[in-house]
Amino acid sequence: MVSSRAVVLLVFCLCTIPKSLGFVERSWAEAIALANETVNLMTLDEKIGMVRGVGQFSISGTNITIPPLCFNDGPAGIRLGGSNVTGFPPAINVAATFNRDLMYSRGVAIGEEFRGKGIHVYLGPAVDIMRNPKAGRAWEGFGPDPYLGGEGAYQTIMGVQSVGVSACTKHLGPYNQEHWRYGLNAEVDDRTFRELYWWPFMKSVEANVSALMCAYNEVNGTSSCHNAALIGDEGYLRTEGFQGFVVSDWGATHDSAADNANAGLDMEQPGDWILIGGGVYSGLEAAVDDGQVTEARLNQMVTRILTPWLRLGQDQGYPDINFNAQDPDGTDSLNLNVNVRTDAHTALVRQIGSASAVLLKNNRTTTDGTATGTTIRGLPLSKDIKTIAVVGQDAQQLNLDCGGGLNECNDGTMVIGWGSGSNNVEFTVPPIDAITDFAQGFATISSDITSNDLTGGPAVAEGKDLAIVFANAMSGELGFYNIVDGNEGDRNDLNLWWKGGSLIEDVAAVCNNTVVVIHSVGPVPMSSWNNHPNITAIIYAGAPGEQTGPSLVDVLWGAVNPSGRLPFSIDDDEASYGTTIVYGIDPFPVLDYTEGLFLDYRYMDSQGITPVYEFGYGLSYTTFAYSSLSIEASASSGSVSFILTNTGSFDGTEIPQLYLGFPSSAGEPDKVLRGFDNVFLASGAKQTVTINISQKEMSIWDVVNQEWVVPSGTFNVYIGASISDIRLTGSFTA
Ligand SMILES: *[C@@H]1O[C@H](CO)[C@@H](O)[C@H](O)[C@H]1NC(C)=O
Ligand SMILES: *[C@@H]1O[C@H](CO)[C@@H](O)[C@H](O)[C@H]1NC(C)=O
Ligand SMILES: *[C@@H]1O[C@H](CO)[C@@H](O)[C@H](O)[C@H]1NC(C)=O
Ligand SMILES: *[C@@H]1O[C@H](CO)[C@@H](O)[C@H](O)[C@H]1NC(C)=O
Ligand SMILES: *[C@@H]1O[C@H](CO)[C@@H](O)[C@H](O)[C@H]1NC(C)=O
Ligand SMILES: *[C@@H]1O[C@H](CO)[C@@H](O)[C@H](O)[C@H]1NC(C)=O
Ligand SMILES: *[C@@H]1O[C@H](CO)[C@@H](O)[C@H](O)[C@H]1NC(C)=O
Ligand SMILES: *[C@@H]1O[C@H](CO)[C@@H](O)[C@H](O)[C@H]1NC(C)=O
Ligand SMILES: *[C@@H]1O[C@H](CO)[C@@H](O)[C@H](O)[C@H]1NC(C)=O
Repeated sequence: MVSSRAVVLLVFCLCTIPKSLGFVERSWAEAIALANETVNLMTLDEKIGMVRGVGQFSISGTNITIPPLCFNDGPAGIRLGGSNVTGFPPAINVAATFNRDLMYSRGVAIGEEFRGKGIHVYLGPAVDIMRNPKAGRAWEGFGPDPYLGGEGAYQTIMGVQSVGVSACTKHLGPYNQEHWRYGLNAEVDDRTFRELYWWPFMKSVEANVSALMCAYNEVNGTSSCHNAALIGDEGYLRTEGFQGFVVSDWGATHDSAADNANAGLDMEQPGDWILIGGGVYSGLEAAVDDGQVTEARLNQMVTRILTPWLRLGQDQGYPDINFNAQDPDGTDSLNLNVNVRTDAHTALVRQIGSASAVLLKNNRTTTDGTATGTTIRGLPLSKDIKTIAVVGQDAQQLNLDCGGGLNECNDGTMVIGWGSGSNNVEFTVPPIDAITDFAQGFATISSDITSNDLTGGPAVAEGKDLAIVFANAMSGELGFYNIVDGNEGDRNDLNLWWKGGSLIEDVAAVCNNTVVVIHSVGPVPMSSWNNHPNITAIIYAGAPGEQTGPSLVDVLWGAVNPSGRLPFSIDDDEASYGTTIVYGIDPFPVLDYTEGLFLDYRYMDSQGITPVYEFGYGLSYTTFAYSSLSIEASASSGSVSFILTNTGSFDGTEIPQLYLGFPSSAGEPDKVLRGFDNVFLASGAKQTVTINISQKEMSIWDVVNQEWVVPSGTFNVYIGASISDIRLTGSFTA
């Protein structure tokens, strides 16, 4: 969204740290001092202009010297930026890489595109925990695990802000389903909130995030955007040291201007949604005039908005806004349609796509029975495979013309969910194009991809050396957005769409080398077909972004050895997750987060549920051995080392994971993720891997004393290739 504000620009002279892009970064203290000076020179109108967005429903002229600050969705790249932007993979696939370098690099690349368009604030990362696997927007975040989400948030913010663009972590929260989101009440206890839902926000504050966004729903009976326990001076985020500003989600203010301002809301968006009946900060001036809101509080709001702008040096040499969000298709004179795509960004999207592909099954057979021999079944594919069938509508180009660019259909290949967290899918390279480009020189390709045709698909697959069958599942945002095939944001069930499961079974019945590719926003049922003897490989490719086809080809033919790991558990039965989506209550329901800390693998582990594929799971074309665990730890820090060896015949990347078992008195799940690494090893090579654990990572939230404490007793340390595939176990005492 574009917002314009009329404010006076001052000329500053400062101590500065030069950055390569020619902007200067200041410390928080320097930026606050400057913001204070600025506020003192502003009129009341200018201050009000600063805390109230405009431009959602109109563009108004302003006497600008502090330029209009421009905000844009969203977590996976520019949404309303006209053309010529990159369609990055959403966070759920970034999580599946378990690779901090890729998380960071994606942040840098997104930041470069926002900066190129003159956008000041990137409305991301989204860190909403996947409390239930059907939650409509869960793919915008990093899945159900708070540690993985925290690392993802931290690296994304460090990347985005490294190029001088502000990040805005959302949605505070907890905000975990679409149905009834404008008023549902999430009842969450303090410890669960701190250790699970708040954790990625805490990591965001550590990364010096510029802004946090409050959510549509209520928490403990009070709207998030006027909930002082969240956003007030004594609330969670300020007591954790947050110094930026709190902005409402667009249309998430439900109370009076005075109530919101006094609770801690610094900026309302979009201020001009008064046009459709909202926009409470239009009443802020009156509230200041009659003393309901003090001018000191208003000054604080403005200071908090100006501070990150100054801290990231956006006052010097920042590109002008060069597009019109109201006219993204571009006939407007404002729409210069600056091309912010680069070859490097395209290559990065392809790299994240292949690094997030999770190989779930691989029954590889070679002509000579060795690992390196020519592959006749399974992966990686050999160029000796001469006849290939491509089946399923998810293999074909997606429909670019649905839902006004918000991707509100599931028509063609699924690269990202729908709604405000979607992005530009214009440059999508679908699987069929990439497979055809790569293989047409050595194989004959037949396809049946215009629909999931249970007659035509198997007919084309029968008798072929190989069938690649595609199926998908999608979800998205409710709000103003479309209901897609009866799914109102949240998925109605976990199933594959468009009879995808039947298509897979019918193809496997006629082709003894069937490779399944799943594009999905989250878990889908697999147990009715995953053990089928003719299904020789399964790739869970998630939502890989615009370079979906090339990234898949890289994995299929072995240019990339897969190293993606599941950022959630996959099970057929929703009951295995221990949570639900509340669909049919009117008016707004109360959601009791009684499951506490026990989500996904933490819940399944505690209940003895074995999922079809567990959290952290993923195969490689090679194998790895773990040995020689050594632990040095005290109550203030831990350092865990072990030797990792590539024991197979392919070079490849392993994702070793560290799970911590707290002393039993702590009341934690048996194992919680507290570390991971990504280690590339040539065939036969070995390396010592060290994973450190900080004091906070071995702490629990003490509700009585309101602090993080390390419980005393024995901690178990589990090093594994997934939550269930533990290879080394040790312990220490704190
Ligand atoms: C956050 O900002 C502070 C002060 O401006 C700085 O000392 C610290 O290094 C920054 N943290 C990170 C992770 O960059
Ligand atoms: C900024 O102004 C506020 C309110 O007057 C004051 O409390 C704070 O100390 C000032 N900070 C700096 C760094 O000048
Ligand atoms: C801009 O400034 C002119 C005078 O300099 C004034 O008449 C006008 O009302 C101002 N417009 C806005 C939007 O503040
Ligand atoms: C933007 O992308 C379109 C293709 O969608 C292309 O024709 C056009 O040349 C690009 N514009 C610039 C400025 O690169
Ligand atoms: C919500 O209420 C619970 C139970 O009283 C409390 O533990 C928690 O801190 C509250 N959280 C917020 C954000 O108000
Ligand atoms: C097929 O692959 C699965 C998972 O990789 C494995 O459990 C199973 O033993 C394999 N079966 C054969 C026949 O290789
Ligand atoms: C698979 O089917 C092909 C014919 O389509 C046949 O030649 C081959 O022997 C079969 N392989 C196995 C392992 O069943
Ligand atoms: C596997 O595929 C072959 C065709 O190659 C078919 O004859 C056989 O029935 C299939 N097996 C199963 C279990 O469906
Ligand atoms: C782990 O901590 C040790 C000691 O503080 C430090 O030397 C080392 O660089 C850290 N290693 C990693 C991988 O963070």
